[in-house]
Amino acid sequence: MSSHAPIAGEIATLSPLGKTDTQLLNRIRNKRVKIAVLGMGHVGLPTALSLAAMGWTVLGADSSQALVSQLQAGEAPFYEPGLETLLKEHLGKRFFPVDDLEKAIRESTVLFLCVGTPQKSSGEADLSQIESAARTIAHNLNGYKLIVEKSTVPAITAHWIRRTISRYARNGNHGSRPAEGSMPLQFDVASNPEFLQEGVALKNIFKPDRIVCGVDSDRARQIVEEIYRPFESPLVVTGLSTAEIIKHAANSFLSMKISFINMVADLCDAIGADVTEVAKGIGMDPRIGPDFLQAGIGFGGYCFPKDLRAFIYLAEEHGVNFSLLKEVENINQQRVDVLMKKLRKALWVLHDKTIAVLGLAFKGGTDDTRESPSLRVVDALIEEGAALRLHDPKAMPLLQKVLPPQEGRLTYCDNPYSAADRAQALLVLTEWPEYRTLDWARLRSEMDVPLVIDGRNLLDPKDPRQAGFEYISIGRPEQ
Ligand code: UDX
Repeated sequence: MSSHAPIAGEIATLSPLGKTDTQLLNRIRNKRVKIAVLGMGHVGLPTALSLAAMGWTVLGADSSQALVSQLQAGEAPFYEPGLETLLKEHLGKRFFPVDDLEKAIRESTVLFLCVGTPQKSSGEADLSQIESAARTIAHNLNGYKLIVEKSTVPAITAHWIRRTISRYARNGNHGSRPAEGSMPLQFDVASNPEFLQEGVALKNIFKPDRIVCGVDSDRARQIVEEIYRPFESPLVVTGLSTAEIIKHAANSFLSMKISFINMVADLCDAIGADVTEVAKGIGMDPRIGPDFLQAGIGFGGYCFPKDLRAFIYLAEEHGVNFSLLKEVENINQQRVDVLMKKLRKALWVLHDKTIAVLGLAFKGGTDDTRESPSLRVVDALIEEGAALRLHDPKAMPLLQKVLPPQEGRLTYCDNPYSAADRAQALLVLTEWPEYRTLDWARLRSEMDVPLVIDGRNLLDPKDPRQAGFEYISIGRPEQ
């Protein structure tokens, strides 16, 4: 079996290609069609640039004129290692940022949907941007299009996209699986969930573990295979809903691993065992695997918390009580309290104490602070009346816009040593590699109290301890 052979059999029974489809595939094979990526966010932009790098002509469409101007100037709108270099390399050659979505749709044959799917207060995914994009596609259906859903969406969204396009198409086009003798097929919908991790998005995109693609026609499958042909990775071809569930299940499973190890960490704290050794010991079992067993203050970011809630909501909507995942979320919510308890235990009253916070992004390698556990710690500290000195290698410029500095209460610092100035505790809250190699003797001389709480188990305990620090971490013995 070739690495591109479909793994699931759900689409094997679909009808063979007709003559027009063969012509279409030939044009695609020769890259004589354009690809439009709708939505230039954390998923859309890396996707668009990777396709440009593979030799496709790509229109990067976004309704934000400001964002498009920034891209046209060769500036990446957010920090992602290697992204700006890739942007500059392909800008104006194979990658064209545009704010006219309709034109981008009309000029392209393959449309990647990468618009936002934020969550509503109920946890349900807000699909209004997807619906709006589907209607815009319907109004501009001037020939065959493959619409590839890449945003994380609940199962059966692909079916809704197809229904919406069929309903609103002005020229009477219809989606795949027409009745015998009906209108020719004019579009297909595929579900190709992304598994990009911020901070290593380009590595994930150029060398993915697997590419998952849900389709319900041979034509869509062949186009997708053509697009992903240069990639070495296995292509898992499934039905539409199955692909959507794979994405939710993958993120939920990884979240579950993190909450699991976090509870093990609490137990290790209680009985004096070492969670990092436990993680190593269980992770060597290939059935468990070593990844996502890093205990700490919990998971954050744009995907895990949102996708977990959306999956719980989806299950509930369909009468399935996925209480396991509710507990994963509860455990994650409580991680901030675990850290705050450790801090109070070490420092007693926090009111008017100066606390240095290293790390604001939801993880290392990104400037993204969405649902960052660090910010929940910052909120808790503000509530207790502590004065904060904050540092993050990348996240401060964006964060300052939503959390402005306050004289004497909330100070953004250029480096970790300035953050430590007169501080009575130092908290490490994001796994930035540069925090591993701090000069602890220098930090000691800056601080009033040599106390460090490592919320990510990032440091080698002997480094701060040798410099005279009291070192506290998550689920590791204190001495
Ligand atoms: C995640 C998925 O990994 C990716 O496949 C999906 O496409 C988008 O969501 P991302 O949000 O970029 O990617 O971050 P990830 O590296 O998965 O980390 C998520 C959170 O979990 C971070 O806050 C991180 O600090 C935390 N984490 C991760 C842990 O607390 N422990 C771990 O062992 C791993």
